[in-house]
Amino acid sequence: MNSPLTIAVCGCGSRARTYSKIAMSLKGRYKLVAGADPNLERVNIVKATSENPDFKSFESADELLAQPKLADLMIIGTQDDYHLEPAKAALKRGYHLLLEKPAAQTIEEVIELAQLAKKYDRKIALCFVLRYTQFYSQVKKIIDEGKLGEIISIRAHEGVDPFHQAHSFVRGHWSKSADSTPMIIAKCSHDTDIINWLVDSPCKSVSSIGDTKYFQPESAPEGATMRCTDGCPHSETCTYSAYRYTTDKERWLTMVHPDPDKEKTTEEIVDWISTSPWSRCVYHCDNDVVDHQQVLMAFDNGVSATLSMTAFDAGRTLEIYGTKASLRGGDAIKNQFDTDIVLRYHHDEKLEKIIFPELENDGYEGHGGGDYGLMNELDKIIAGEASSSALIENAIEGHLIGFTAEKSRLLGGQQVKPQRA
Ligand SMILES: NC(=O)c1ccc[n+]([C@@H]2O[C@H](COP(=O)([O-])OP(=O)(O)OC[C@H]3O[C@@H](n4cnc5c(N)ncnc54)[C@H](O)[C@@H]3O)[C@@H](O)[C@H]2O)c1
Repeated sequence: MNSPLTIAVCGCGSRARTYSKIAMSLKGRYKLVAGADPNLERVNIVKATSENPDFKSFESADELLAQPKLADLMIIGTQDDYHLEPAKAALKRGYHLLLEKPAAQTIEEVIELAQLAKKYDRKIALCFVLRYTQFYSQVKKIIDEGKLGEIISIRAHEGVDPFHQAHSFVRGHWSKSADSTPMIIAKCSHDTDIINWLVDSPCKSVSSIGDTKYFQPESAPEGATMRCTDGCPHSETCTYSAYRYTTDKERWLTMVHPDPDKEKTTEEIVDWISTSPWSRCVYHCDNDVVDHQQVLMAFDNGVSATLSMTAFDAGRTLEIYGTKASLRGGDAIKNQFDTDIVLRYHHDEKLEKIIFPELENDGYEGHGGGDYGLMNELDKIIAGEASSSALIENAIEGHLIGFTAEKSRLLGGQQVKPQRA
């Protein structure tokens, strides 16, 4: 690769800005040439990041896609309900894609995109950034080296974190499945993707239960007002108080504020949240996505796996049980034992502890280094010089597990066979 990979950005939101910044930090490897978003402040941030005087700005995906092809690759960072249309149009125009996950809102649409990529001979890299973290790539390596022996079963756990749940899945963009995707896709498609990547076999059955138990009117403390900013008596003690956007949770505000980079006074923040979705009482929203869900999976190679999602914990934890050794790792292990991965060998009952070097605090620690890891491979993937782990054709099965889990949940936990046709 001698020349930089040129990029057009469709949807200059939080995720696309992160990838753009990382791209520009990888000096000389990427060039940002265009950006589109109805929110021009956001386009301007990408433009400023690009340091490209010839950067072209557009007000919508349609406007950008009406132009002749402007770049090698398009980042599609729009919301879940607006991936399919721009992705199809961009493939037709000849762009390779870096497409945010989930790829689309149904499994049929995901498969359609994979087929179109093949038809137009383009690559679609999906932002399953966890595959590029130190943690999950090390786990995969341990499995591939045979240290665990034959894998028999897996237990995965995702704690979304209560404030994150409230911000994104009660008040925010992913609170209603019909407007975006169900929780098991919007958030946990990362987890079903990772499980499938580690098991490396088609899934043959899925069952799942889950509900919205807590974020309901019945859970509201006495006297709670409809908005934190309406003089709620609990605003100083409530975990979900919107006033936290002015203190320890300001970074979440940046992700949803129309003018993210502008310095804001506390008064300006309160002013803005008081009419935005993000000060609504979490017990009185119109949310319908789950706050807890369990998924039970059986794979063709005989492996079984469980995934447990809860709003009321923080971080991912993984346990893998193999014939030679078991593996435990992730946030719970790190927090309790200051160790990233613990292997326990069955024959001598010895423990091996793996501790990773600290990630450099270069501002790219997002998703455990996964955002950086993906961007550091993307140009090589597009050039066909790096493994294609992130490509859509390798991520269909993980999506399929998620969509099947939601089907099962809506059927009250019935066992469902994934439909591949
Ligand atoms: N890979 C991950 O770990 C990860 C993490 C969070 C979110 N996501 C996914 O990334 C995607 C984006 O999430 P986000 O938090 O960046 O959202 P965001 O709301 O910050 O960004 C979406 C942007 O799209 C813009 N937009 C809307 N209509 C448009 C149009 N017609 N043309 C062009 N732009 C348009 C919006 O104005 C907004 O700026 C979602 O699909 C989300 O599920 C992935």
